[in-house]
Amino acid sequence: MKVIVTKNDTEAGQKAFELIKDAMNNGAKVLGLATGSTPVKMYEAMVNSDVDFSKMTSVNLDEYVGMAPDNDQSYRYFMQKHLFDKKPFAKTFVPDGLAKDSEAETKRYDQVIADNPIDLQVLGLGRNGHIGFNEPGSPFDATTRKVPLTQSTIDANARFFANEDDVPKYAYSMGIGSILKSKKIILMAFGAEKAEAVKGMIEGPVTNHLPASVLQNKDDVTVIIDEAAASKLS
Ligand code: F6R
Repeated sequence: MKVIVTKNDTEAGQKAFELIKDAMNNGAKVLGLATGSTPVKMYEAMVNSDVDFSKMTSVNLDEYVGMAPDNDQSYRYFMQKHLFDKKPFAKTFVPDGLAKDSEAETKRYDQVIADNPIDLQVLGLGRNGHIGFNEPGSPFDATTRKVPLTQSTIDANARFFANEDDVPKYAYSMGIGSILKSKKIILMAFGAEKAEAVKGMIEGPVTNHLPASVLQNKDDVTVIIDEAAASKLS
């Protein structure tokens, strides 16, 4: 695991974008992408660049169950707004929040991942150490699943909704097993509220109580964090 500490999320986003460009220059064709506040500066750097993504494919980590793509809280909407509407990709995949049959949707998404092997996966980090929506206790070999969100994640996401009852309680998420298949991984985390999870991820035991700790076992992982998120590292 390579750890880079930056002054702020803008510098981190720029750094992550440079790693994406390097990977593309070395033949990467498929990016695994994340939503949430963490990658926003990275998407800004991508959008403000002259890099052409029109031959690239993206595969997103997750989507809320029950959420329509045009709902402004959906992860599909987020991706269109922050990236795809401004920098077109050849193909973009996000789980279908409105799928009638959850089981079929998770199988379909596993096939998407199999057909489009991810060269570089971008991850955020939950305060509880989740990656994607693989909450504490998630098996390390899981493929795409419908998962209940923990209260800690519901609380963290409530800031985006008018009231907590509106926060979805389930999501489709790539499993940890699917994430680990990616050739390279960049994980970003910012702010003091992530410091405990960052410490566990880097210095703690590898345990599914803190899902991101599994990244210690994976080659080619770059962690980009700001000083606040790094503040508990020894
Ligand atoms: C988002 C995702 C989540 C977030 C994590 C951090 O697609 O999979 O794991 O990366 O919850 O969220 P933020 O960036 O909002 O702090």
